[in-house]
Amino acid sequence: MMQISGFSKFTKEEKIDWLANNYFSNPQQTKELLQLYWNEDMKLQKLHDEFTENTVSNYYLPFGIAPNFVINNKIYTIPMAIEESSVVAAASNAAKFWGNKGGFKAEVISTEKVGQVHFTSVANAEKLVRFFNEVKPKLTEETKAITKNMEKRGGGISAIELRNKTNELENYYQLHCTFETLDAMGANFINSCLEQIAETFTREAENYIHFSTEEQPEVIMSILSNYVPNCLVRAEVSCPIEELLPNKEDAKKFAYKFVEAVKIAKIEPYRAVTHNKGIMNGIDAVVLATGNDFRAVEAGIHAYAAKDGKYSSLTNATTENGIFKFWLEIPLALGTVGGLTSLHPLVKLALEMLQKPNAKELMKVVAVAGLAQNFAAIKSLVTTGIQQGHMKMHLMNILNQFEANKEERNTIINHFKTNVVTHSAVVEKLEELRNE
Ligand code: MEV
Repeated sequence: MMQISGFSKFTKEEKIDWLANNYFSNPQQTKELLQLYWNEDMKLQKLHDEFTENTVSNYYLPFGIAPNFVINNKIYTIPMAIEESSVVAAASNAAKFWGNKGGFKAEVISTEKVGQVHFTSVANAEKLVRFFNEVKPKLTEETKAITKNMEKRGGGISAIELRNKTNELENYYQLHCTFETLDAMGANFINSCLEQIAETFTREAENYIHFSTEEQPEVIMSILSNYVPNCLVRAEVSCPIEELLPNKEDAKKFAYKFVEAVKIAKIEPYRAVTHNKGIMNGIDAVVLATGNDFRAVEAGIHAYAAKDGKYSSLTNATTENGIFKFWLEIPLALGTVGGLTSLHPLVKLALEMLQKPNAKELMKVVAVAGLAQNFAAIKSLVTTGIQQGHMKMHLMNILNQFEANKEERNTIINHFKTNVVTHSAVVEKLEELRNE
């Protein structure tokens, strides 16, 4: 293969031609496949083309919905963009399960976002503190053009702090800044503020007569942090233990095994990672459907799961005084304005489905989706095992793959009610039917 220069300047057709001719044995087929996923509506296609660079097609994910979620006494249908089978079904089951037990309760604990200007300086720390205190009002003042609108709505820069990190890295300091970004995720806002702060800081340092040339602070970078441990949301469910299952003894055993399963995920990182992955099945699906940055959310949540020095479960469960309680606390930086939220038609639809939530409301819905997913996963794991549900979906996928007709489907679904689903067993059964 040859490297190519000026690729980004090619037209879309030229890019596709280059790709198809250089990497595929059947270029025509490749082009047809890429085209099959284009939208016929040229305006809509152009919109998608322009979300990112070098777009050659669209990559679809199923857009599912999980109805019947009761959150703080309000009923929601939750949009979920996810390819994994069983996730939407599990969410819906958990919603139904808790729907008649008071539903989910959720609350936003805090909404602080963070950004940092990282810099080095050989100046004496006290001198830096003196300089910082002198320059601090200017740092805020010169961001006014950026913060004006946000401030009108009650947000903006909450604090700028000088942090001395020289114990961990020689000459390293930070301007640790905190923000309130209201209904915006705030990445652009925060980064713009930080770059202005860095510029003002550098210029003022150059004019500060007490710094020698060597002592001039050197800004290394200015960037928001996706770690937002003070932008927290909590979701919870609870009910009397005996209401968990129709039979009292079964309910007691279930509660015991459930709580143990969560305790295991608390202390055992191998289990905690999978446990939290299940939570992220719910969280990512809603974050994606509502046009938010799931990589940011993933990074922040996993860091939070390790905040005490060891990776651990994000959920907790207890049985106290006859009450089963299960809850989740996570950091979430989400937006319901800006970014994709006003651009992607399906994101707009998802937000409307959620009754046009503000960022705090969306935080609650997302946290609930994570808790519901974890509840459904643990419920399966400590009772029937996870494969029962998965294999049902697996069976449907195989039937789709082999384009089984209605009659074949019915016969096979019936057959596998009492037989173990494996890919080869399903194919064998299908062949048997087709040879009859
Ligand atoms: C699969 O995507 C997620 C689970 O493995 C989560 C868990 O084990 O808790 C089922």
